[in-house]
Amino acid sequence: MPSISVSAPGKMILCGEHAVVYGQPAIAIPLQQINTTTYILARPTAPKGEVRLVADAIGFDDSILELDETDPIRAALELVKAHFSIDHFPACEIRIHSTIPLASGLGSSASLSVSLIRALCEFIGQPLPVHEINQMAFEVEKLHHGNPSGVDNTVIAYNQPVYFIRGKAQEFLQVSAPLHLVVANTGVPGSTAEAVAKVRQNWQDDPQKWENYFSQIGKITNQIRQHLEKANPEAIGKLMNENHRLLQALQVSCTELDTLVNAANAAGALGAKLSGGGLGGNMIALVEPDSADRIFKALMDAGAVSAFKTTLSPSR
Ligand code: PMV
Repeated sequence: MPSISVSAPGKMILCGEHAVVYGQPAIAIPLQQINTTTYILARPTAPKGEVRLVADAIGFDDSILELDETDPIRAALELVKAHFSIDHFPACEIRIHSTIPLASGLGSSASLSVSLIRALCEFIGQPLPVHEINQMAFEVEKLHHGNPSGVDNTVIAYNQPVYFIRGKAQEFLQVSAPLHLVVANTGVPGSTAEAVAKVRQNWQDDPQKWENYFSQIGKITNQIRQHLEKANPEAIGKLMNENHRLLQALQVSCTELDTLVNAANAAGALGAKLSGGGLGGNMIALVEPDSADRIFKALMDAGAVSAFKTTLSPSR
């Protein structure tokens, strides 16, 4: 009986979120510590085309047809069926298990889409190249937050650090020295859709002012890219702080994020910023390896509900 298991990582945005929706570059990194795994088991004795879904994160255990047609999980299945001109997907049970906190800026939705789409294709013996998986995951991301840039699905589908500009082919980043980071969760659920809509409203009200913010963030991202290549973490940290100040100006930070960013810097981080859509969710701090434990503790003491350390390894 065929059975498939496919995992996709989480992700963090190092710099450039929100501005990336308006054509500026962003840098994103896959996170291997957290992931989504999709298991698919054939059910040869089940009625034709009956697809059961068990997804703990949304408390779902039923036929996939019980999901709304616009639900991203159901939409992913329909996309795969349409791609291969399949009327009835083979009867099966899909189990989705994720260790990525929801609504926290760490890529839970894109990770789910990538792992599910890849698993569905492999289950029917039709694995697709990464760029096609990425394209389908992008279609599903649109259901999650309306007007996504595509950075989340791209970094997760390729599972490599990317320099990303909307509508252009992604570039893979050259990283010359390890980058040590602490990621901390405010525990406040962030809504990317709400944050993106808020920025859009402000941009429509005063395009010149907001485009100026976007282009300043774009410049920071380009500088960070150069410093990644030259292995200059001190300069990257300063630029992350500047990026956070601009995200505050974009009104997508919140008290809890600012508290954690300040706590990380007060404990000796090289720099810190919110990561992802904001209005809650996670922040990231760039640290020196010997201060990672101290900054981790400072973040927990300052009210983080969880935190973890991660290292971006140099490119080979
Ligand atoms: O909240 P997240 O992790 O989905 O981050 C989204 C990044 C944004 O730039 C805010 C939106 C986008 O589509 O790029």
